[in-house]
Amino acid sequence: MFASFRSIGAYIPEDIRTNQWFCDRMDTTDDWIVKRTGINERRIATSTQATSDLGVEAAKIAIERANIDIQDIDLVLCATISPDYLCMPSTACLIADKLGIHEAMAFDISAACTGFVYALSIAKAFIESGMKKNVLIIGAEKLSSIVDYSDRTTCMLFGDGAGAAIISATENKDEAIIDVRCSADGSQKDLLLTPGVESGEKQFMQMKGNETFKVAVRTLTSDVLKILEKNNMSNDDIDLFIPHQANYRIIKAVGDALEFKDEQKVLTVNKYGNTSSASIPMAINDCYESGRLKSGDTLLLDAFGGGLTWGSALVKFSPKK
Ligand SMILES: CC(C)(COP(=O)(O)OP(=O)(O)OC[C@H]1O[C@@H](n2cnc3c(N)ncnc32)[C@H](O)[C@@H]1OP(=O)(O)O)[C@@H](O)C(=O)NCCC(=O)NCCS
Repeated sequence: MFASFRSIGAYIPEDIRTNQWFCDRMDTTDDWIVKRTGINERRIATSTQATSDLGVEAAKIAIERANIDIQDIDLVLCATISPDYLCMPSTACLIADKLGIHEAMAFDISAACTGFVYALSIAKAFIESGMKKNVLIIGAEKLSSIVDYSDRTTCMLFGDGAGAAIISATENKDEAIIDVRCSADGSQKDLLLTPGVESGEKQFMQMKGNETFKVAVRTLTSDVLKILEKNNMSNDDIDLFIPHQANYRIIKAVGDALEFKDEQKVLTVNKYGNTSSASIPMAINDCYESGRLKSGDTLLLDAFGGGLTWGSALVKFSPKK
């Protein structure tokens, strides 16, 4: 049995927060933010929306586009670092409940910005082992709830949003997800973290931006080389290269090092900022809705985040015919 990537959906919060919002509140400029990050604006959820609400909206679209019965979903995975509740119930349980799914296995994945690629890997393994048939994977974040708006070096980077996909069993190898690689190295935990409840600190994201930047470029580049080599593929086999959307300069450095052409590279960080686990599915959805992503296309996903965690995936986009 193989796992196929059937559909994509996303929820983009309506409220647009431009760089001017930050200029009005702290010592920064639009020019600095655009030059250092490539971000012009990001989306912010309303005060009454929780991460699960964003995830549900994305999931509904992915389910509708996959044209499957909601009750056929037998696993719900939610990647998030901004869950509705601290540890329990998981955001995946809340999303499943809001969708009316009450018997499927559901759990969260804590792998920061690599969360969606981790979810893809888990979905693939469950399907290939024959344990599950239709997996709903979601990357959902309300990062505005864990951003420290007194820290000008990090707060302008992040935004809210959600993306979701349906991964289903198929016997057709041509429709299969080709490969997913996931890795972690806890020895670099201090680069990106959210303090625990006993730390006495507020539960806001902390980041060593400059060091993180360098490790991100190195890791995102080398992981792509490894997955391509392992699968005996080259840049020419890739239709869309979709890296985690953290910073335009990171994406440019990685894209240049790997020599992808402009028409292969996908960029959304300018309008959504960094939405952590939601960034890759939101970018895939953008390509789908603009007509850039077509049935049978080969996607190369490339993610990096706190933990540290990183991962890449070679995915055939295989909507049901
Ligand atoms: C955060 C980031 C944009 C900062 O850019 P940078 O080029 O590394 O900038 P630095 O942190 O070295 O700071 C450079 C200067 O800008 C200043 N600065 C920092 N934030 C600023 C802001 N919002 N506005 C104006 N100046 C700012 C710093 O104080 C520093 O001033 P100094 O030279 O007088 O000391 C960049 O490091 C980054 O994007 N890192 C990766 C973040 C990321 O993607 N994390 C998630 C990975 S999943």
